[in-house]
Amino acid sequence: MTDGDSPQGERLQKVLAARGWGSRRVCEEMIESGRVRVNGETAVLGRRVDVERDVVEVDGAPVGIRPDLVYYLLNKPAGVVSTAKDTHDRETVVDLVPAEPRVYPVGRLDAETEGLLLLTNDGELTFRLTHPKFGVEKEYVAQVESDGRPVSREALAVLRKGVDIGDGVTSPAEVGELQPGVLRIVIHEGRNRQVRRMCETVGYPVVRLVRTRIGPLVDKSLRPGEWRSLNLDEVRSLIEAVAGEPSDTL
Ligand code: URA
Repeated sequence: MTDGDSPQGERLQKVLAARGWGSRRVCEEMIESGRVRVNGETAVLGRRVDVERDVVEVDGAPVGIRPDLVYYLLNKPAGVVSTAKDTHDRETVVDLVPAEPRVYPVGRLDAETEGLLLLTNDGELTFRLTHPKFGVEKEYVAQVESDGRPVSREALAVLRKGVDIGDGVTSPAEVGELQPGVLRIVIHEGRNRQVRRMCETVGYPVVRLVRTRIGPLVDKSLRPGEWRSLNLDEVRSLIEAVAGEPSDTL
């Protein structure tokens, strides 16, 4: 358990807001009006909690991860579409995970893009993870056409700074070259075919694209087509990554 004055732990209003109890301001008001208890004691504003150990209640009801919510991490293979239902009856990512309860992909990967995709029935988390203002990092490994030669320094600089891909300039990205023609790209946005369009624009069309990280989530052991449930720590780390108001993260 944490001491209320300890600098460790997360601010109570942030924890409550991340679990869907309203904005931080609303959650602060809930605390101020005495509706929130931590380990059986009425909490005061400024209280920090250890989400692993402290028992938080609002109006006497425990605040945790709701048992009806599921979170799957899928390694999407190439050729599978990311929509819930494909108009051409192609296999979709939803076909690769349990049918019940019904889940939806969080954002999209192009049909030919491989790698990590989250599927869940948690609408609030989906909203936050796909909201551009939260800017959750997505990491990709992109193999580009470069005839086996390294990508030019100019192209890397433009990718890092921002590229005009037709519908505006992309935000600054982290870009490194893992080996000649193989780039590691970290972006915060989720525009349609963004990585492909960025690379194409600087003269290096993508031949293979794999997503290797979504915010704090990584998994090198899932084979293409395999999925697993997130563990509690992973769900918590995702909630933490998108906690608060969108503008707090700008
Ligand atoms: N960027 C792309 O070009 N495609 C994806 O699927 C994801 C990011």
